Amino acid sequence: MKALSGSASFTVSSSPSITTTQFSNPIFTFPYSYRKPNSLSLSPSLIQFTKPKFTATVSTTETVEQDEKFDWFSRWYAIMPVCDLDKRAPHGKRVLGVDVVVWWDKNESAWKVFDDMCPHRLAPLSQGRIDQWGRLQCVYHGWCFSGSGECKLIPQASPDGPPVHTFQRACVAVYPSVVQNGIVWFWPSTDPQYKDIITKKKPPYIPELDDPSFTYKIFQRDIAYGYEVLIENLMDPAHVPYAHYGILRTPPPR
Ligand code: FES
Repeated sequence: MKALSGSASFTVSSSPSITTTQFSNPIFTFPYSYRKPNSLSLSPSLIQFTKPKFTATVSTTETVEQDEKFDWFSRWYAIMPVCDLDKRAPHGKRVLGVDVVVWWDKNESAWKVFDDMCPHRLAPLSQGRIDQWGRLQCVYHGWCFSGSGECKLIPQASPDGPPVHTFQRACVAVYPSVVQNGIVWFWPSTDPQYKDIITKKKPPYIPELDDPSFTYKIFQRDIAYGYEVLIENLMDPAHVPYAHYGILRTPPPR
């Protein structure tokens, strides 16, 4: 499988009392914790997990669907938590190997996700600025773009010439995006057929993040390996006492 480099956002809900109980004197704040089920005591030794009981039926149609190739680019991805974003500046990010720029469009009161590439000379738009009209301005020659990706200004264009800023080739590719659970999500395709994808498919919803009885931490970190490697690592807790030796409060290694 092709390795997918990019960023990852981690979100963990936790009870505040458990967070402070688990980690005394940490070398760094490690965000993994667990939520205490309401009916259990704080002692981990008393916590038992019961296998969920369910019955699965697999129809011929479902079997066929399982055999279909997984499409990494037909689903929502978390880019950044809103609390980490500054509305006054564009933010560059690489997700699934795609370079995007996230910026606040004050005219539409929405976070926008564009290709991080100016249609003029391919300069990264994340190096630009938000101009006084709330447009995303390229750092190289100052072209300005609205939240819909349209070019609104080419400073060097002659006022007597053709309105070159309206040409399709002057537009920036825009990705569908939405804020949910305090996180900016994007759909990694600029194909027009996905423009309104949010009306048909929404990002995974995490109800605890919108529940005031929960506290949580969100942080993000750029990692130099693929999503599938990270998931494999998180599914492998046996490595923790050794690979994180002296960092986490775990049973002593044998
Ligand atoms: S490269 Fe962006 S305006 Fe020229």
